[in-house]
Amino acid sequence: MNAPPTVDHLQAEFGLTGIVHFEPGEGGLICARVRTRHAQAVIYLHGAHVTRFVTGGRDLLFLSEKSHYQADTPIRGGVPICFPWFGPHATDSSAPMHGLARTRQFAVESVAARDDDVEITLRLRPGQPIGDAWPLGVTLRHRIVIGSSLEMNLEVENASGAPFGFEEALHTYFAVNDIHRVEVSGLDNTEYLDKTDGMNRKKQVGPVRFTGETDRVYLATPATTTIHDGECDIEIATDHADATVVWNPWIAKAAAMPDFGDDEWQRMVCVETANCGRHAVNLPDGMTHTMTARLSLK
Ligand code: BG6
Repeated sequence: MNAPPTVDHLQAEFGLTGIVHFEPGEGGLICARVRTRHAQAVIYLHGAHVTRFVTGGRDLLFLSEKSHYQADTPIRGGVPICFPWFGPHATDSSAPMHGLARTRQFAVESVAARDDDVEITLRLRPGQPIGDAWPLGVTLRHRIVIGSSLEMNLEVENASGAPFGFEEALHTYFAVNDIHRVEVSGLDNTEYLDKTDGMNRKKQVGPVRFTGETDRVYLATPATTTIHDGECDIEIATDHADATVVWNPWIAKAAAMPDFGDDEWQRMVCVETANCGRHAVNLPDGMTHTMTARLSLK
């Protein structure tokens, strides 16, 4: 197996002076720092994880001050990728939560600057099948476009010779000023499974507000949701995503997480662009599926 490229190699092959710089990030994990006319971003190759997206003077993403940065652990905050399953594995309780992608180092496939945007494509193509979950011939690409919005395209290419079933999520942590004042609109009248209440099926009435632990999988969701936090609105526009997960751990769960500050639940909300559960994807051989989330400050 080839050794992973060094920061110097990546910078020489893909760096763009003044725009994209590869460097060792926290814990020595390699990241790309991106600066465009409208935004700044940081993307770790570990998990193809966007940890920072600043536009209009505001970082849209929450990143825990207690996050670990090490090869076998996901980063807490930013945009973890859940793939090829979401939540606990359906049959193997020893398998990691939220799949395999968020703790693997992705390769850089391409970097390009176009007008005011930068597009970075990262790729994960295991050289061996990983159990039944990730057969040989399945490639995961994360195509990230940094402009005045942050566009993330999660592409699954199936060349395995058989249909491939998977779940996926862009598990986005948004930074908010005070969770008590947050409303998420766009989910009115939508059914959801309440993970804090035995997966009971319920219907959303009005905007989502937060008064306690919240962990919900909204089903057959519309393409756009908006987070209002009293100071600004963040719009999440999606393509080919049928589910939306809304999560805030609140006090007790926050205190129980070793990589999350005890008070940080007040400053974050996860609104996750997903295909999971009954919206899992079954991708025929020879096909590619792309799920997109476009985040912008309104
Ligand atoms: C959410 C799930 O997507 O992720 C929650 O709905 C879970 O149930 C949360 O607690 C965080 O998961 P993890 O593995 O990153 O701690």
